[in-house]
Amino acid sequence: MEILIRESPETCAALAAQIVARTVTSLARPVLGLATGGTPQLLYRELVALHERGELSFRSTTTFNLDEYVGLGPSDANSYHRYMQTHLFDHVDLDREQTFLPPGSAPDLRQACREYEELIAEAGGIDLQILGIGANGHIGFNEPTCSLGSRTWVKILSEQTIRDNARYFGDESEVPRHVVTMGIATILEARHCLLLATGPKKADAVQRMIEGPVSAMCPASALQMHPRVTVVLDEEAAFLLTFKEHYRWVERHKLDWQQLE
Ligand code: F6R
Repeated sequence: MEILIRESPETCAALAAQIVARTVTSLARPVLGLATGGTPQLLYRELVALHERGELSFRSTTTFNLDEYVGLGPSDANSYHRYMQTHLFDHVDLDREQTFLPPGSAPDLRQACREYEELIAEAGGIDLQILGIGANGHIGFNEPTCSLGSRTWVKILSEQTIRDNARYFGDESEVPRHVVTMGIATILEARHCLLLATGPKKADAVQRMIEGPVSAMCPASALQMHPRVTVVLDEEAAFLLTFKEHYRWVERHKLDWQQLE
């Protein structure tokens, strides 16, 4: 894992945007995996700004989101379909026919989950998967004790995640209990994973992801098995890391061609 520590959420977002922009501009038909939630909002703001300055086009990009709530249609204010429109899709030149989210309101969810996996495969797989991390160590909505070999499927949110996400719904009772999420195995197939974490609430999960054992108790720790993961952290999310100075040392000693690898 490559660990990059920056001062603030803003400088993390600027660095993550550079990594996304490099992927998008270096490939003929880039495929991005997208995350929602509070953390990537600043990243999407940076990408929109790059696009508005004429420095980045998403015209030939395809996107696949990590997850969606079951039962919330695309027009629901709390759906991740709506989130993506608000924070990215409405402001850049993505071909909307090439933006895909898990099918939270499909009549046959099991079939729709299988089809989502097929769509990702048909697009040639994901080049860069953007990830956040839950305070309990989840990625996507793969909660602690999930299968580390899971594929896109219907999952049940943990009570902690329901409490954490209640801020978007007003009340815990409004948060859907079921979600469709890419599985851990789906995420691990992306060619490059870019995980962003900011703020003190993420420090424990970040420490367990990077320095703990690979364990379903912290699903994000499965990323230790991936050949190419970039973790971008602000100081607050990094503060429990035992080898923080080592990560800074490694970054300072990168060879020229390893910059932004
Ligand atoms: C969202 C997702 C989740 C979030 C995580 C952190 O698509 O997959 O894993 O990344 O719950 O959410 P925030 O950023 O709101 O703390």
